[in-house]
Amino acid sequence: MEFINLKIQDQNIQQKILKNIQKVINSGQFILGQEVAQFEKNIAQCLNVKYAIGVASGTDALFLSLVALGIKQGDEVITTPFSFIATANTISRVGATPVFADINPANFNIDPEQIKTKITKKTKAIIPVHLFGQMADMDAIMALAKKHNLAVIEDACQAIGACSKTKKAGTIGSYGCFSFFPTKNLGAYGDAGLVVTNQKDIAEKIKVLRAHGAKKQYHHQILGFNSRLDEIQAAVLNVKLKYLDQWNEQRISHARYFTEHLQDIKQLIVPPAISDLSHIFHQYTIRAQKRNQLKKFLEKNKIPTMVYYPVPLHLQPMFKCLNYQRNDFPQTEKASREVSSLPIYPGLAQKDQDFIIKKIKEFYDSR
Ligand SMILES: Cc1ncc(COP(=O)(O)O)c(C=O)c1O
Repeated sequence: MEFINLKIQDQNIQQKILKNIQKVINSGQFILGQEVAQFEKNIAQCLNVKYAIGVASGTDALFLSLVALGIKQGDEVITTPFSFIATANTISRVGATPVFADINPANFNIDPEQIKTKITKKTKAIIPVHLFGQMADMDAIMALAKKHNLAVIEDACQAIGACSKTKKAGTIGSYGCFSFFPTKNLGAYGDAGLVVTNQKDIAEKIKVLRAHGAKKQYHHQILGFNSRLDEIQAAVLNVKLKYLDQWNEQRISHARYFTEHLQDIKQLIVPPAISDLSHIFHQYTIRAQKRNQLKKFLEKNKIPTMVYYPVPLHLQPMFKCLNYQRNDFPQTEKASREVSSLPIYPGLAQKDQDFIIKKIKEFYDSR
C-alpha cells in the first residue's frame, strides 16, 4: 500500500493528458499561451471567482500576494503555527514578521479568538490556512479583518473545492492561494500554483508581478519576478480539473467510512463525518494515543502514515530569530504530538481501508 497512489488516479485519463501535452508541444507555445488562458478561465468558473492567475507554485502564490499588498519590513502578518513552512516563510521573504496564533483543537485551523490577541498597530494581514482540506472559520476571520482594516490572504493550497455555505475556499479573502503540487487534490505533473481574487486591480497586479513587473513585454513598471504557470502544467490541469469534484467526493466517502469504523476506539479522535463540502479531506487526520508506536506498528504491516506536521512552525530552527519558546502554542504542540494522517487518495480500495481499520483496532486491543 502507498500513502498516495497517483497512478490509480491517472490511469483512465492519461491518454487525454498526453494528447493535451502533445498539443502544446506541437504549438511551440510554452509560456502563457492558450492552455494557461483556458485553465484560468476554467478554474475561475469552477470556483465562482472573477479572476484567476496561474503562477509557478503555491509558495509563489502566497509570496506574490504579499508583495502585491505592499507588505514589507516592519509589518506583521498573523498566521497559524500549524502548517507547511511556505505559509510563514513567504512572510519572512518579503521582510515582514510572521506572528503566530494558536489553533482551534477541534479542526486544527487558526483560532479567531487567538488572532484577536495578536493584533497590533503593525498588523497588516492575516493568512488563515484551510488545513487538511477543512475550511477555517472565515466568518469570524473576515469580521476581525474588517474591524481592524486587515487584508486576508487565504492559504487554500490544501483545500481546492472546499465550500463553506455558498463560498469556496480561496474566494472569501482578498486573495486565495492554491498549490497544484502533484499530491494535492488537484495536482499537476510538477510545480504549479494559482492566485484568485474578485478584485480587478489585485488581479492586474499579480499578472504584472508574475511576469517581471511588465504589463507590456519589455516595459517594466515595477520590480517583478518570473513566476508563471507553464503551458504543459496547464495542459495537465485542464484535463484533471474536470475530475476534481468526483475525486473530492471519493475522499469524503473514504473519510466517512474511516470515521464510521474508527470512532469507537477510545484512544483515537477522528474527524467528524460531514455531509457538506466544508472539508474535502486532502488529509484524513486522526489524533492518536501512542501515536509513534502506532505508526511503527502500521509500518510493520506495510501501512504508511504521515505526520503533518511533526515540528510546529514557531519551533522550526529557521524561526529561532522570532524568539518563540516551547509551550507558547499548547494546542499546536499537542496536535504535533498526536496527529497521524491515513491514506485517503481517490481510488483507495475498500479492502485496503478495511485492512487499515483492522490493524489500528488490533494495535489498541493489544494494549
Ligand atoms: C498549506 C500549504 N501552503 C503552501 C504550500 C506551498 O505550495 P507549493 O508546494 O505549491 O509551493 C503548500 C503545499 O505544499 C501547503 O500545503
